[in-house]
Amino acid sequence: MAATLDSLPSGAVTPANERLSRPLDSIDIPHKQVKKICCIGAGYVGGPTCAVIAYRSPHVQVTIVDLNQARIDAWNSDELPIYEPGLDEVVKSVRGKNLFFSTDVDTAIKEADLIFVSVNTPTKKTGVGAGYAADLGYVESATRHIAKVSTSDKIVVEKSTVPCRTASSMRKILDANGKPGARFDILSNPEFLAEGTAIRDLLNPDRVLIGSLDTEHGRAAAASLADVYANWVPRKQVITMNLWSSELSKLAANALLAQRISSINALSAICEATGADVDEVSYAVGLDSRIGPKFLKASVGFGGSCFQKDILNLVYLSESLHLPDVAAYWRQVVDMNEHQKRRFTQRIIKSLFNTLTGKKLAVLGFAFKKDTGDTRESAAITLIKYFRQEQAKISIYDPKVEESQIWYDLAEPGVVDDVTALKKQVTIASSAYEAADDADAVIVVTEWDEFRDTQLDYEKIYQKVKKPAFIFDGRLILNQKKLEKIGFKVEVIGRSRADESFE
Ligand code: NAI
Repeated sequence: MAATLDSLPSGAVTPANERLSRPLDSIDIPHKQVKKICCIGAGYVGGPTCAVIAYRSPHVQVTIVDLNQARIDAWNSDELPIYEPGLDEVVKSVRGKNLFFSTDVDTAIKEADLIFVSVNTPTKKTGVGAGYAADLGYVESATRHIAKVSTSDKIVVEKSTVPCRTASSMRKILDANGKPGARFDILSNPEFLAEGTAIRDLLNPDRVLIGSLDTEHGRAAAASLADVYANWVPRKQVITMNLWSSELSKLAANALLAQRISSINALSAICEATGADVDEVSYAVGLDSRIGPKFLKASVGFGGSCFQKDILNLVYLSESLHLPDVAAYWRQVVDMNEHQKRRFTQRIIKSLFNTLTGKKLAVLGFAFKKDTGDTRESAAITLIKYFRQEQAKISIYDPKVEESQIWYDLAEPGVVDDVTALKKQVTIASSAYEAADDADAVIVVTEWDEFRDTQLDYEKIYQKVKKPAFIFDGRLILNQKKLEKIGFKVEVIGRSRADESFE
């Protein structure tokens, strides 16, 4: 029978598919109510995630543990170790009531019904898979710790982003080292929060994903964790599926998000060469409901601790599965990201009359994105490395990143080989105005709101900089026409150079 127009699905949204999520309401097998949670790893994920669980579940006691005493001390102080809008309020309202931070890992594990493993899983630096594979040493050591001290049944939850089938390795470790009588059920519950909006994302997640074995115990464990989230997340947004799909979904989500950024950045190069404007192109394509507007902002490239690491992990997985073409496909997303940073640097060199030697560059922003103090894999680190190779002098200002963190990142092996030279070339300013003082160019690297022309006094900046007054917008946050009126020569990613005409 021919479908009528009214019966056709509207838009490209896939209708909810019952088969794809085991409906939680049908989990009528008995399951345990979680009363005590332990979270191993008090980092960017463990801290905010479990603070929100405590905030929304007053009857659950949550203890976040870490081996790093300084980090735990900071969580117990007025100056939390990470900056995240809304985090202070959440932590301070429940800390000491049902939320605790401690280095006593043994006690927290022993007392918990459910344990989140939220430790770091960085890219391996040496050995087999170096540069691609995830270093699972921290996950393994946390798992061994759980096996060693547990004297009762535990639900062990992978919160860290891990390669597909990590749960199977954890099971082997727990089975081989656990005490008789203590049973372990492993779940995958990847975290989809984005730094900078973590609290908002945690309070209103698009979905919560829980992967379990499709066994009676596996389903019961999934139901116990689902009950915790049900304290604030609508049941239909808590999705349950098989363990391996859940593990792979996290890598897949990050790979697809990063791919969108690399795709628009690849198009930005074409825009610069043709007179098209990448902001207009992304607006036009984003209106197509099949594409959507998010993650289509051209920039100096993605950063952060996850995108690159997780794609490289996917590349490694593909190669291990003897799928070299698949590996090459995903690797290109990372290659394009590096290309974008080199391209931006070349544009700056070309605009500044083909040399940066001895010139002062004011770098606005060092965090990998706004509203976080996190600098891991920040584009700023690579750009500053390139500027230094061109013998430029660099003055850096960031509203949230500590000075000591900037020095730490710039002195990392692979970024610098001569720390004395680094100190001669780089200074850290306490305001954008100070950074811009006598600069040959101002470069916007992070999209902090305070760098927008509605907040920063660009007339004042113009008075301070050398002429011609160059400004490079690596985040497409400035009003080009307004700044040109002041007298700036404005160079924007994804728009042609000021001295080129495509009329
Ligand atoms: P992080 O490095 O900020 O925190 C990890 C913490 O675990 C550190 O404080 C470390 O001292 C602690 N730790 C390591 N081994 C331990 C052990 N055996 N016992 C106790 N503490 C231990 O890392 P972050 O950013 O929180 O990431 C954690 C995991 O979450 C990673 O797998 C990451 O890929 C994933 N993830 C990160 C997101 C992010 O935006 N940062 C978002 C989603 C997932």
